[in-house]
Amino acid sequence: MTSLPVAQGAQAWSREQRYTALEQVPADTLRELQAQVAASPWRQGYHVQPPTGLLNDPNGFCFWRGQYHLFYQWFPLGPVHGLKYWRHVTSPDLLHWEDLGVGIAPDTPYDSHGAYSGSAWPLEDELLIAYTGNHRDAAWQRTPYQLTAHWNGTLHKDAPFLSGPPAGYTEHVRDPKLWAEEGEFFVVLGAQREDETGAALVLRSPDAREWSLVGELHTGLREFGYMWECPDLFHLDGADVLLICPQGLPSQGERWRNVYQSGYLLGQLDRETWQLTHGDFAELDGGFDFYAPQTTLGAGGERLLVGWMGLPDMTYPTDTHGWAHCLTLPRVLSVEGGQLRQRPWPGLVALRGEAQDAKAKAGERFELLLRPGAGPFSLDLRVDGPNYTRLSFDGEWLIFDRSHSGELPELDKAGLDGGKGGHIRRVAVHEVRELRIFSDTSSLEVFVNDGEQVLSGRIFPGPDAAWVRWEGSGECTVWPLGETE
Ligand code: FRU
Repeated sequence: MTSLPVAQGAQAWSREQRYTALEQVPADTLRELQAQVAASPWRQGYHVQPPTGLLNDPNGFCFWRGQYHLFYQWFPLGPVHGLKYWRHVTSPDLLHWEDLGVGIAPDTPYDSHGAYSGSAWPLEDELLIAYTGNHRDAAWQRTPYQLTAHWNGTLHKDAPFLSGPPAGYTEHVRDPKLWAEEGEFFVVLGAQREDETGAALVLRSPDAREWSLVGELHTGLREFGYMWECPDLFHLDGADVLLICPQGLPSQGERWRNVYQSGYLLGQLDRETWQLTHGDFAELDGGFDFYAPQTTLGAGGERLLVGWMGLPDMTYPTDTHGWAHCLTLPRVLSVEGGQLRQRPWPGLVALRGEAQDAKAKAGERFELLLRPGAGPFSLDLRVDGPNYTRLSFDGEWLIFDRSHSGELPELDKAGLDGGKGGHIRRVAVHEVRELRIFSDTSSLEVFVNDGEQVLSGRIFPGPDAAWVRWEGSGECTVWPLGETE
């Protein structure tokens, strides 16, 4: 095996290094990598994060036999996209996670170049999993396979139920989201049409063995990005919701400023024709780092969402420490007034310590609740000398400014159309009644007006960025939060 460029950025990784399997790596190289990651000052305290290497999409999120199961896309060896595994964590409460190690290894011809994203559905005595096997041949030509697998302590993989792209679609067909309804199984899949536009496909099966392709989910969006990744489709509060991650939408003013988008279409689905009648595409998160979310039904029947607090094609300051990214906190979804509402998982209050005044040192890990009173305001978080992250309201826009927060993530793709990137995001709000903010060592998640909007961002300040600056009227309370790692 060639040695790994452990402490270097993404550019240093050759294809051979990116496609090195975990088993090929000597134990002392892994130990060195683990030690390097553990020493990173930006390790999170209560978010799911990779022990080494790169985390991306949440996968296989479900509740089964009293436990939440959550997997994530994982390249173990460095902060780059390479040979992807699923890593498996479980939790009784969505706060404390036990790491079960590798969930799916890319060890068959079908997934030889990555066990790509997918989902799980709880059956009586096992988890039914659907995922994409990424295969490449010697000429580096890709064939996507859609596979099922079964887990009940050990993993059993089936033969693919869809081999290669269906007619009319390119090699970009992936990310099956699985559910069962009225005794039948369904999958919604991300796809690219041959004319390089994004779409979602539907498959159905009476028994999760024999699958048939229904066709496209009709949304009427014919040219809406060049690829839709990680679709999710569910019924909630009388509405049907399709989540999609369209790639290739040019930014429009303050909208769609991240490199790729993640949002939803809300409306009514005709299950005979698979026609979704819907309103405008709305972003799920108005912040900087959010992509590829996945939902499931929680223990109480609530619709839960977890996202990747990161994006493809970006360089992050932790890259030089041998790791990248984490998942968002779980959110509870509801449909209210024709909009998706996202509230933080209620169980998070269990992490709170004693409430304290915002003028005291808040530390790195805290929850802050602000009821600002009428009119404009400015709130600085994680302040240390010249560094701060500012949330302000000018009467029209809520502004999330991380440009002075410390070290900064950057877009890899130079020359993307104007307006993408940057370190300021603005979301339109009529009034700010409440901000509920979760700060971890290297992230902020801001819930506006009881879940009307959410803004998430990674920040990479120095170790003393522990103060809150709040000069306005209204109430501001801070609770230190415990670690769950
Ligand atoms: C989204 C994505 C998926 C794919 C996975 C590979 O971030 O590109 O479409 O299955 O990541 O890691």
